[in-house]
Amino acid sequence: MMSTRIPIAGPWITEKEIRYVNDAVANGWYGNAAKYQTEFEHAFAAFAGRRHAVSLPSCTAGLHLALLALGIGPGDEVVVPDVTWIATSAPVSYVGATPVFADIDRVSWCITAASLEAVLTPSTKAVIVVDLYGNMPDLDPILDLCRDRNVAVIEDAAEAAGATYKNRPAGSFGAFSAFSFHGSKTLTTGEGGILLLDDDAAYRECLIQRDHGRAPGDTMFWNHTIGQKYRMSSMQAALGLAQLERLPELIERKRTIFDWYSRALGNVPGLTLNSEAPDVLNVYWMVTAIVDPKLGWTKEKLIPALREQNVDCRPFFYPLSMLPVYESFPSAAAARARNSAAYAVAPYGVNLPSALTLTQEQVEQVINELKRLLDQA
Ligand SMILES: Cc1ncc(COP(=O)(O)O)c(C=O)c1O
Repeated sequence: MMSTRIPIAGPWITEKEIRYVNDAVANGWYGNAAKYQTEFEHAFAAFAGRRHAVSLPSCTAGLHLALLALGIGPGDEVVVPDVTWIATSAPVSYVGATPVFADIDRVSWCITAASLEAVLTPSTKAVIVVDLYGNMPDLDPILDLCRDRNVAVIEDAAEAAGATYKNRPAGSFGAFSAFSFHGSKTLTTGEGGILLLDDDAAYRECLIQRDHGRAPGDTMFWNHTIGQKYRMSSMQAALGLAQLERLPELIERKRTIFDWYSRALGNVPGLTLNSEAPDVLNVYWMVTAIVDPKLGWTKEKLIPALREQNVDCRPFFYPLSMLPVYESFPSAAAARARNSAAYAVAPYGVNLPSALTLTQEQVEQVINELKRLLDQA
């Protein structure tokens, strides 16, 4: 057995991050209390080519604010891909609307225009598209369809900082885009998120909602509505700013790690790794292997076997529609009957160690263990 555990995910922190956070801890108070948040927001908006950015404690909060700003509520339907983290769909319930689960593409593992169109109804108010595992959906047909059908688009770019689609960055699509800076993410603030948008009125609405329903700049504790408490701390923003300045380097490392895996596993019969369409830059947040069912390894069998060898893995997301939480939702029952791609891929998918500080030697150890297990099949 290998001696040290090979981590599934984790950040790359340098002196720069430590310097910025130290400065925030020492000086980010009084007149400087919002300095790092403001700088981070401006830098992030510029990076994605958006007019506005709202720094937040999580991406989940960003999706919640987007739905609130769109005025979505009871009786409305919001489409999400069936395969994603529950943070995509939970905010739909926060506002009292109904999540509808669209199938994914077998190659990109993302929602498609066709799978979205199949579930549109007169009650559909929005779709949350997800840039899954650092890949991008084929967005132009989705944006065209949504324009025709008057459906708002929210981009859940939680996993995709630095990805591009037709040379446009993740974070620039639809009315709103949200990123996560959770500790597992390529660009991290420990916990954190940001919401990007262009519309001035919606921006003001988000600022009011972020701060207990008071107007931006209010110093009189004069609240207009019941809002949320969704502010990011200056220590998080300082860390985020340093990481954003290093994003090209972080992305290059992620792509190198994928390359190490892909050279060794790309031609192994029965294994499929993350795809990258010609017009996409995939940032490979999680290197993922789908094992041909013929080899007899479900993710439930493979993950413990790899963990026993000190290789930390995660399951490809279960379809949301099969989770206990959605058992009684009619929209989930419909998804279970309909979403053949989600149900074909998900049982056989494993996220392999993708931490930013992995060495090539560690990746080789993972590759050897995986090959050894597959040979036993
Ligand atoms: C696809 C997706 N959406 C949303 C989120 C939520 O991010 P956060 O944990 O920052 O709320 C995550 C992160 O885990 C995610 O992977």
